[in-house]
Amino acid sequence: MADAASRIEARIDQVLTPDDPLIEPMGHALRGGKMFRAFLVLEGSRLHGVDEAVALDAAMAIECIHAYSLVHDDLPCMDDDDLRRGQPTVHKKWDEATAVLVGDNLQSLAFQLITGPGLGGAIAQRLAVDARTMVKGQMLDIAAETAATPLTLDQIIELQQHKTGALIKWAAVAGPLMAGADIGPMSRYADALGLAFQIADDLLDVEGDVATVGKAVGKDNNAGKATFVSLLGLDEAKRRATDLVQEAQDTLNEYGTEADVLREAAAFVVSRKK
Ligand code: IPE
Ligand code: IPE
Ligand code: MG
Ligand code: MG
Ligand code: MG
Repeated sequence: MADAASRIEARIDQVLTPDDPLIEPMGHALRGGKMFRAFLVLEGSRLHGVDEAVALDAAMAIECIHAYSLVHDDLPCMDDDDLRRGQPTVHKKWDEATAVLVGDNLQSLAFQLITGPGLGGAIAQRLAVDARTMVKGQMLDIAAETAATPLTLDQIIELQQHKTGALIKWAAVAGPLMAGADIGPMSRYADALGLAFQIADDLLDVEGDVATVGKAVGKDNNAGKATFVSLLGLDEAKRRATDLVQEAQDTLNEYGTEADVLREAAAFVVSRKK
């Protein structure tokens, strides 16, 4: 993941041009994350023999969509957060208008990259669909705060498949999709992984400490968010996450040892402290 991060960092420097007045807040929004989705694109691409430069732009594209989703997620009209990746959020360091525009700009930048040389077509179409699925998830998340009755487990799973699952799934299937290979195994891997990822995020909100997590904790409960922890409790949420890791790892059998890094990534998703 650190390797994915450093390659993305270098690409950010090439893509953000100094004449753009948003260069600083754009860079701020893009940098400092785990680059987990970029890592999935790069690993899935490596497994399927996709050209490295093509894979890197696909990886950068999904990080642009992810970063835009976070900048908007943190706005006062949404989760109202001041801290992200251990830094002030974009609307805190600059202002709300800048944060809205950074999100807009990152979304367009994602499509500029994903329709670049060697890209476009099915992979770009799918990014559009999955980015819209994420937005629907964000809408469901906000609506749940004021719902008359708490969400059921199935409804929380549906919410997460939209909010978090869709972008993770796109990242996992991008490699086989670009290679014209079967997306089945990576797609099933991502289904389990995405769910485990959001359970871990919900657990960190309860059990994490702000200095390590790099974002505010203890907020979901206060905001009345529908989370796996609010419905299942800590122990059951952890048990499910552990089961999902195993499930994710089992989907990779046909790749043999070539997929060991992806197996480790699945384990990392639930053991992570940030
Ligand atoms: C946080 O995503 C938001 C969710 C979808 C749960 P990450 O945990 O990947 O955040 P960064 O990119 O590493 O900051
Ligand atoms: C955010 O979910 C998911 C997206 C931005 C699509 P959260 O609101 O739980 O993410 P954090 O906890 O702020 O990172
Ligand atoms: Mg949110
Ligand atoms: Mg949030
Ligand atoms: Mg969260």
